Amino acid sequence: FKPAHGRYTPRDKDSFSYTTVTHRWPVIITNIVSTVSSENHKLANDDPRLAEGKAIISELSALKHQMGRNSVLHEADFRPIQDDGGGNLACYNDELAATPEEEKRWFTANWLFAECYLYRVLRSLFARTQHWADYDPFFESKAETYKSSSTAIVHLAEALNAMVTDERLQDGWEKEGSRLEIAFWEMIQAALWGNATDLSLLVDLKYEDLQKLQAVGKAAQAAQAAKVLRDDLPKVWALLKTVKDGQVDIVLDNAGFELYTDLVFADFLISCTPFVNKVVFHPKTVPWFVSDVLPYDFGWAIDSLLDTSFFASHAQLKDGDTDSLTTLAQRWKAHVAEGRFHLSVPVDTKMGADVPAANFWCTQFAYQDLPAVDPELLAALQKSDLVVFKGDLNYRKLIGDAKWPTTTPFEEAIGPLNGKINLVSLRTNKADTICGLPEGTEERLDAEDKTWRISGKYAIVSFAARA
Ligand code: F6P
Ligand code: MG
Repeated sequence: FKPAHGRYTPRDKDSFSYTTVTHRWPVIITNIVSTVSSENHKLANDDPRLAEGKAIISELSALKHQMGRNSVLHEADFRPIQDDGGGNLACYNDELAATPEEEKRWFTANWLFAECYLYRVLRSLFARTQHWADYDPFFESKAETYKSSSTAIVHLAEALNAMVTDERLQDGWEKEGSRLEIAFWEMIQAALWGNATDLSLLVDLKYEDLQKLQAVGKAAQAAQAAKVLRDDLPKVWALLKTVKDGQVDIVLDNAGFELYTDLVFADFLISCTPFVNKVVFHPKTVPWFVSDVLPYDFGWAIDSLLDTSFFASHAQLKDGDTDSLTTLAQRWKAHVAEGRFHLSVPVDTKMGADVPAANFWCTQFAYQDLPAVDPELLAALQKSDLVVFKGDLNYRKLIGDAKWPTTTPFEEAIGPLNGKINLVSLRTNKADTICGLPEGTEERLDAEDKTWRISGKYAIVSFAARA
């Protein structure tokens, strides 16, 4: 599918793709180098891991150097991507082979392709070693942000536990403005704004801003609601009200706090409403855009809530706080054990394993191509009553990272995916591409705040129905 308006590339120096290739990717690569170096420091001289670790560092340095020189994506000896036993090789190598040289340099390739390709190459550097093949260079940073989110985590746990035990929450849910509708609104907003804390963006954002992004309390929520530039939540609520004991799928984005808010929302749907009794979660299969959820992160996120020392390095939790987290995590473990929470691949799936049902999410393809590229995945998603796409990258892929006029209808921008499934995208804006905005919004925001497309401070909720 070729979007009519072309895709974003760093050729446009005003675009966020340009900032990304000049500033953000080099920092991300440098951070991996530091992480691997500090692992190396812990090793004895004759440890076979050490030689491999050093080799990874020099390949990373070469990659960064070539990026800065605007070289062709497959110039060095590890590109095209060599067989490393993982999936998603041909999709990248075939597209590279078919692309003219001037369109496949770091500063000229389409941003979506180059960025996905970068994470696939990074994975390959580890996958082809003997001793680092299961290593996730982003794990520590994911864990750190999770630990520093305890205030918002406890707040949400208390709010949800109270809803679960509230016998009157469902009274009169059919009526407009019911308590259940208000509770739904709060829980899905948490999952929306949970996306503001992805780590690939923390390169630019100050760590202290985390707390603000996870703003708790009514006034903060109302202020944030004003930042939702298009709000299809009423359509989502209207759809859910027609569902009984159904299934929701969540195409996950980031681990840590965002995943926690996704689990909160999923538990709310299962435990507090008559609409849903199963939620299927779709993780990535390789370390992806720094902070995305891997199968391991999923189990770990829940287990950490039961570890009373987990948050201790960042905050002192009160006994009541740990009790709330324990109640919540035990309920979630029961959901997992009884299949109400279902990860689309086994939690112990080896990193990078070639898993046909899950590989698609780590290809470069836009979701407009999902029906043609992965009909089996589409068929699986069609069993769902609603598919929730979390975050910025999923949104970019839904609309092909293209330069749509901002008033283009969302249904038009998702192309061949339109009408195939019920879907909603919950996205905080961290990249240029956007559509479905009311007339005049773009002009107003350009005048008010030049960073509105990329700062993560604005959001959109876009819904499209199954035909
Ligand atoms: O905008 C910066 C960026 O790295 C984009 O490349 C990507 O779309 C996004 O962040 C990742 O954010 P999210 O975790 O919300 O998908
Ligand atoms: Mg992400």
